[in-house]
Amino acid sequence: MMHEHSSATERQQLRRLLLSYRGQLTEAERERAAHKVSEHLHALTEFQQAQTIGSYHSVRAELPTAELNQHLQREKQLALPRLHPVVSNHLLFLQVTEKTIWHANSFGIPEPRLASPDIIPLDHLDILLVPLVGFDQQGNRMGMGGGFYDRTLAAHRAGRYPKLLTIGLAFDCQQLEQLPTEPWDVPLNMVITPAKIWDFRS
Ligand SMILES: Nc1ncnc2c1ncn2[C@@H]1O[C@H](COP(=O)(O)OP(=O)(O)OP(=O)(O)O)[C@@H](O)[C@H]1O
Ligand SMILES: [Mg+2]
Repeated sequence: MMHEHSSATERQQLRRLLLSYRGQLTEAERERAAHKVSEHLHALTEFQQAQTIGSYHSVRAELPTAELNQHLQREKQLALPRLHPVVSNHLLFLQVTEKTIWHANSFGIPEPRLASPDIIPLDHLDILLVPLVGFDQQGNRMGMGGGFYDRTLAAHRAGRYPKLLTIGLAFDCQQLEQLPTEPWDVPLNMVITPAKIWDFRS
């Protein structure tokens, strides 16, 4: 269909543009941004009260999470995603400790080895920290284009994880006024950038 075709093209162009903004940041700028975002996160009551937090292993020019994850591993229960072994194109979250064994998935992204006692269902998470390529003033999110977070969080949008708070972590250059959206896109509850905590809950 013409509409879907042009929309997909528009999304792909926007994704490339936003990736180029993010890619222009130096490593030092990215680390400074991560520090500031982590400070904002720690100031949130919801974070202080959270026991179980899902995060992501940052790759390429994503907002760095290595230090934050180290901290979460010590102070909270930390869960990181892997490609779901059964439900294709979904993510499965596993508890991470110093004993976790890692391997690279098909995208080259490190993920915790699958062990059933380590599985943390999404409804056990208090907070899920989500990587993104772009976000807008309504909380709409654009990712890398795989639909992994959209599929994984479809039940969240449907109200099935009432306590889960999804928080996108981003650089300020990733913010747009209005992203084009598709029916499957799951908006974020909050986004944290160095400049601001965006709260999209009404
Ligand atoms: N809940 C869903 N069920 C089935 N297909 C889905 C679902 N969510 C997304 N998809 C498919 O995934 C593809 C990519 O989606 P989209 O362009 O929104 O990716 P994205 O939001 O950038 O990626 P991600 O969620 O991994 O960050 C789309 O073609 C869409 O058809
Ligand atoms: Mg999407």
